Amino acid sequence: MNNNSFFITTPIYYVNDSPHIGHAYTSIACDVIARFNRLNNKTTMFLTGTDEHGLKIEQAAKKNKMDTKKFVDQMNVSFKELTKTLNLSNDFFVRTTEAYHKKASQHIWDILKKNNQIYLDKYKGWYSVSDEAYFNEDEITTDKSGKKLAPTGSEVQWVEEESYFFKLSEWQDKLLDFYDKNPKFIGPESRKNEVVSFVKNGLNDLSISRTTFSWGVEVPDDKKHVMYVWLDALINYLSAIGYPDKKYKKFWPADLHVVGKDIIRFHAIYWPAFLLAAKLEPPKRIFAHGWWTNEGKKISKSLGNVIDPNEIIKEFGLDTLRFFLLKEVPFGNDGDFSKNSLQRRINNDLANDLGNLIQRVLTIINKNFDGKLNKIKEINENDKKLYEYPEKLLKTISKNYEKQELHKVIENIWKLISESNKYVDESAPWELVKSNKDRAGDVLNILVVVIAKIAIYLAPIMPSVSENILKKIGLSIKNLSNEDILKYDFLDLSYKIEKPKIIFQKFDND
Ligand code: MSP
Repeated sequence: MNNNSFFITTPIYYVNDSPHIGHAYTSIACDVIARFNRLNNKTTMFLTGTDEHGLKIEQAAKKNKMDTKKFVDQMNVSFKELTKTLNLSNDFFVRTTEAYHKKASQHIWDILKKNNQIYLDKYKGWYSVSDEAYFNEDEITTDKSGKKLAPTGSEVQWVEEESYFFKLSEWQDKLLDFYDKNPKFIGPESRKNEVVSFVKNGLNDLSISRTTFSWGVEVPDDKKHVMYVWLDALINYLSAIGYPDKKYKKFWPADLHVVGKDIIRFHAIYWPAFLLAAKLEPPKRIFAHGWWTNEGKKISKSLGNVIDPNEIIKEFGLDTLRFFLLKEVPFGNDGDFSKNSLQRRINNDLANDLGNLIQRVLTIINKNFDGKLNKIKEINENDKKLYEYPEKLLKTISKNYEKQELHKVIENIWKLISESNKYVDESAPWELVKSNKDRAGDVLNILVVVIAKIAIYLAPIMPSVSENILKKIGLSIKNLSNEDILKYDFLDLSYKIEKPKIIFQKFDND
């Protein structure tokens, strides 16, 4: 693998229903991380896509009285459209019903079989179609109406059928050893403990094929069986980068699979076990984020409180949603979505802190210098503190990104915004223009450089807002090389700063 490459993935989304805020959340987080790595000169591969096989999808198609293939083709469109609506920078969109994916899945199956990791038996046990997962007897509870439920709250059904099994039980010690040797494999730490204790409790062999329906990848040499949808789905991370062709090595092992906390086990237990059994390298890291509730309530179709990202974007704008989702809760924790808190963030963090800084600095330049500044003449110790802050900040946020502490990235950028606002207050350039115009020019020049830096650091999070800010000072991120970004004297001083228009409109609910 190329050391300068970076491969990041979202989970692939089930196409049984329309996309909602949960899908948008994972995708936006991955997009931010991918964009940061691109800015950092990494050859980046950002993958997303759709999970289109399995009983859940087959049943959804039936419910809609549609042919299953036609159904997935139709449903897939709204997920592809969402990548545009969210301004995702994904390099590829994988679909598990495509021929290349089936080929890769069957190839892995053949290797597992050759490596003596698969045997034929009979599965007898509980299955949840909604989770597409098997559950042990001791995990099942019965509700008041007598329904059998999985720990996730979804209904399970009793299944008895011929099935191929993967020898997962053989991998218990090897997995524990792998977690031990790769302490960064699972994040955040709390999830790691959960996974390790699950594995320590013992692993059963895993049923990896079904015979009672046909919507899946056919098992090679046994057409009665289709592959278990999770085995098929996980392989997307390889099929999308060309596996089994050796070009997949350019990006494999993946640097980061971002997933929701509900699917950590599939990614942190089954996936490395399948890969190790196939003599392939496991990914470097799996990070599980938390779940959103809506005004304190679990988001569910039956409660009718599903949040459509398209509607929020129409009402509040895309970049503000991107900002809100990442700022509101530490990445990894659960969060609560409400329009009130979204508006509060727009009013306080965006309009007051960031918007005001830009507005006041650019207005003074426009008014008093006819929109043009000269090169800096003299810089004092206090100026230097602010002037050199962005360079330190870049180091800090790079570390935050490595740990997927996206909320800290924002927090730390906001510290610079607040330092800059303090500097404006203390140096009072609106007074200086009257008493010492050269000094006012230096102060404003420093501020413009810092504003440019802030905009650049915000680019992964709010790409359009960032471009908008840079445009106001005659820059565009597309025209900036990485060296430019790191050094300070990249301002085109021939550019005239126009009277700034307000970037963030306030809401009056506060
Ligand atoms: N198809 C599987 C993933 C296979 S990956 C090899 C799947 N799909 S999903 O469409 O059900 O879920 C996709 C992602 O959305 C998961 O990471 C899940 O955690 C996330 N979310 C679904 N609801 C969510 C919230 N309410 N909040 C945050 N994320 C949530 O699982």
